[in-house]
Amino acid sequence: MKLSVNVDHIATVREARGEIEPDPVIAAGICELAGAEGIVSHLREDRRHINDRDVRLLREVVKTKFDLEMVTTEEMIKIACEILPDLVTLVPENREELTTEGGLNLNQNKSKYKDAIDELHSKDIEVSLFLEPEPKNIDLALECGADIIEIHTGKYANLIDEKSRINELSKISSFSQMASEVGMIVTAGHGLNYQNIFPFLNIPEIREVSIGHSIISRALFTGLQKAVEDMIKILSGK
Ligand code: PXP
Repeated sequence: MKLSVNVDHIATVREARGEIEPDPVIAAGICELAGAEGIVSHLREDRRHINDRDVRLLREVVKTKFDLEMVTTEEMIKIACEILPDLVTLVPENREELTTEGGLNLNQNKSKYKDAIDELHSKDIEVSLFLEPEPKNIDLALECGADIIEIHTGKYANLIDEKSRINELSKISSFSQMASEVGMIVTAGHGLNYQNIFPFLNIPEIREVSIGHSIISRALFTGLQKAVEDMIKILSGK
């Protein structure tokens, strides 16, 4: 299972002081040196952490795969078409939220997502949709022309009760199987950490995980390189 590291929290620390450090672009290089196979950053409409300069430089510096996470607006699509990330992950965005709170609602505005995906594809940018593991989302994602489904694992991560967790995991597992049977690439992310990631090693359809908070948090104590290496070690099943 591959690891993409989300470097937004590095920019959050920078913005807390309005300074020029720490720099998420340098963090991206360290993550790649440690073995990460992708770098993710979310350019939010309010630019609360990652900014336009960051995504421009990340595009230049990232040698593995640069995944630009964004909301589906004209402004963001224009930026993506200029920056040319390897992948765009479309997510919902709500001004009041601390972090992305759930998957996209494809039923509403299906044509908006389809048009956005067509435009991004015209620039050879792959598109992933951040979705809840609900079976109806698979057909909708196919109809929109998405290449990848990123399963929202936030609900799983937040469940404390063991039985509910197991239920959610089995939902994620059968969703992954169904989606990959119809040709979708399946990834997962949100709230995954060094403790709750283990069951995902038993879901072979999930090719990659996107992790930010837990890795950057651990990096404060161990250094970023070690934090990334520790996660990669878990993902490789060693
Ligand atoms: N995937 C998506 C689509 C996200 O929005 C986020 C959070 O920015 C993540 C993965 C990573 O979540 P976390 O920071 O909880 O690891």
